[in-house]
Amino acid sequence: MKNKRIICGLLLLSTISCSLIAQGKKEYPYKDATKPVEERVNDLVSRMTLEEKVLQLNQYTLGRNDNVNNVGEAVKNIPAELGSVIYFNSDPEYRNALQRKAMEESRLGIPLIFGYDVIHGYRTTYPISLAQACSWNPQLVKRACGVAAQEARMSGVDWTFSPMIDVARDGRWGRVSEGYGEDPYTNALFGYVSVQGYQGNDMSNSKNVAACLKHYVGYGASEGGRDYVFTEISRQTLWDTYMLPYEAGVKGGAATLMSSFNDISGIPGTANHYILTDILKDRWGHDGFVVSDWGAIEQLRPQGVAADKKEAALIAFNAGVEMDMMNNSYNNHLAELVNEGKVSEERLNDAVKRVLRVKFRLGLFDNPYTPVSTEKERFLLPESLEIAEKLAEESMVLLKNDNKTLPLSNLSKIAVIGPMAKDKEHLLGSWAAHGNAKDVISIYEGLESEFKGKSELLYVKGCDFEGNDTSGFAEALATAQRADVILVCLGEKKGWSGENASRSTLALPQVQEQLVQELKKSGKPVVILLSSGRPLELNRLEPLADAMLEVWQPGIRGGNPIAGILSGKINPSGKLSITFPYSTGQIPIYYNQRQSARPHQGKYQDIPNTPLYEFAHGLSYTTFEYGDLKASSLKVKRSDKLVIEIPVTNTGDMDGAETVHWFISDPVCSISRPVKELKYFKKEMLKKGETKVFRFDIHFDRDFGFVNGDGERFLESGDYYIIVKDKKLKIELID
Ligand code: NOJ
Repeated sequence: MKNKRIICGLLLLSTISCSLIAQGKKEYPYKDATKPVEERVNDLVSRMTLEEKVLQLNQYTLGRNDNVNNVGEAVKNIPAELGSVIYFNSDPEYRNALQRKAMEESRLGIPLIFGYDVIHGYRTTYPISLAQACSWNPQLVKRACGVAAQEARMSGVDWTFSPMIDVARDGRWGRVSEGYGEDPYTNALFGYVSVQGYQGNDMSNSKNVAACLKHYVGYGASEGGRDYVFTEISRQTLWDTYMLPYEAGVKGGAATLMSSFNDISGIPGTANHYILTDILKDRWGHDGFVVSDWGAIEQLRPQGVAADKKEAALIAFNAGVEMDMMNNSYNNHLAELVNEGKVSEERLNDAVKRVLRVKFRLGLFDNPYTPVSTEKERFLLPESLEIAEKLAEESMVLLKNDNKTLPLSNLSKIAVIGPMAKDKEHLLGSWAAHGNAKDVISIYEGLESEFKGKSELLYVKGCDFEGNDTSGFAEALATAQRADVILVCLGEKKGWSGENASRSTLALPQVQEQLVQELKKSGKPVVILLSSGRPLELNRLEPLADAMLEVWQPGIRGGNPIAGILSGKINPSGKLSITFPYSTGQIPIYYNQRQSARPHQGKYQDIPNTPLYEFAHGLSYTTFEYGDLKASSLKVKRSDKLVIEIPVTNTGDMDGAETVHWFISDPVCSISRPVKELKYFKKEMLKKGETKVFRFDIHFDRDFGFVNGDGERFLESGDYYIIVKDKKLKIELID
């Protein structure tokens, strides 16, 4: 009887407390939107059980299922307390159904964070990132990221796994398309503005998403361009080359980072305490979280640093990886590791706080659900398309233009030949999120509207992207013979780039080169359009071409600017963000190689030693004349201000935009430095005949300084050179 009463009493108490929780949840400080984020985070963590904490550190994937009626299965598959899902769907109602489970069925009502790879646009697909950098227009890239964020957030995505800021110097690596090329500063700058574009000033705004800098760090150095393999990176090179973009992105407020697959001279990115904790958290003060790459924790086993999944979880977690992407390593082992004392409560709480902090900053506790809207309200809005078109236009690089072959004028017949001419799918590029080939304007469609009533287009495919079938060559040649000019539209399939898509050569498949050789027999001018996700080996094509335009994988709006450049309505202004080697055998070749002992010797005997097209190469239809570099002083003290100027005149007969790239070189330093290093750039529109003075305000530490193998910055006195094109100016820095 007595026992019964006690049980009843307990039952009563728990009912009362349950109903108190239900009614009074809002009174918990973490539920109060007016309280500071840190107070809310601390309050919430203090209420969480070990199991709840561990679940927050896991990310599941659900696969793509576009039918909201089938969401039941997905809802069943996720625990209510889970931290995050990778969200392939784009229907807000689908997201909301999942979120409802987290909000209503978990004890504390902690929202899920929905992540997704929004790399170069969500539905409005922009050019690939490598191309975007060739625009040298950071503001435009920022706007494109803003549109991507808006489309994504309105579709239920809170967090993009972007930007990728891996400096990459080997075009064989399929992921070279996802970053901003070979230069650290370029990656740093475009990474920084992408973060601003995605996150805006306030991540809780319903049109912004959290950014993720990836893949921290050194993934771009994958040996031989093979994906997922070893990277040999000395501490010095780590800091010189690979860390700068991450430091900039963290300073720019990036909410999260993704740890890399590669091992850095023996210590995998996902197990690397030095980069994940000593530098990222302790030195740079990052207070968001690190997510592993897909399965990267478990992969510590095949990488040879963990004996089993449990040890992998231990190493990754203690190194500084807070969230386990798709692996259940944390889910299965973290609680046990805490109970065994191998993972401290302090580290666990810190990790959970980092995840929650980002969720609070995204406003997920206060607005967990995505307002339902139609696709028409979200996607392909006129301004988004305009940005897509402008960015594609500015990314395209005129590689060659002999005898003013371009722009085309007064032509009655244009032969349009090649596998890329009518293709739509491959213009999207890899990682195209919800990009849809039916939204793409093909090269042919662009030409049709541009040349309507002016020239007749004669189309024939000629050959496929690859294979040995040359049966279309005869018709292609016959068509070329009837035309005034031949546009040959060549390139790569989108699946030849991206993750796990390395190639042994930068050359296009032989059949495409043979097609051009065949067409050359017509004696007509040959214009080659190249759509690729990497720099190409063009040494056999270049002599056959009168003009060559690299259009990259320009996204859904590429067709129009391609046609506009060909007709002359648009003056091309893109410049390369990555070197085009003469041949694949030159790799690694990049503009900022370290100085060498015998600069005039040590060359290959069988091929040229300079690349076919250098970093920053890109022609215009007009000409720009650079005046002399002028410094505010040639001898400066560290406390002085130094300003360098150069006048640039548009001396041609067409308006055009010019990007001035400012390099420095430090010929004598205690650590040998690259032959030159990009420190600043600026793009300006110049009307014909107009002169503009470009100006670079030097900040000595930032621009003349260098880092040692621990990232410490130094500035040494002595001579420095400022280099712009072929102009060079010596500055003496005295103590
Ligand atoms: C693996 C890729 O390496 C990474 O870039 C991507 O964000 C994740 N998968 C999620 O899809």
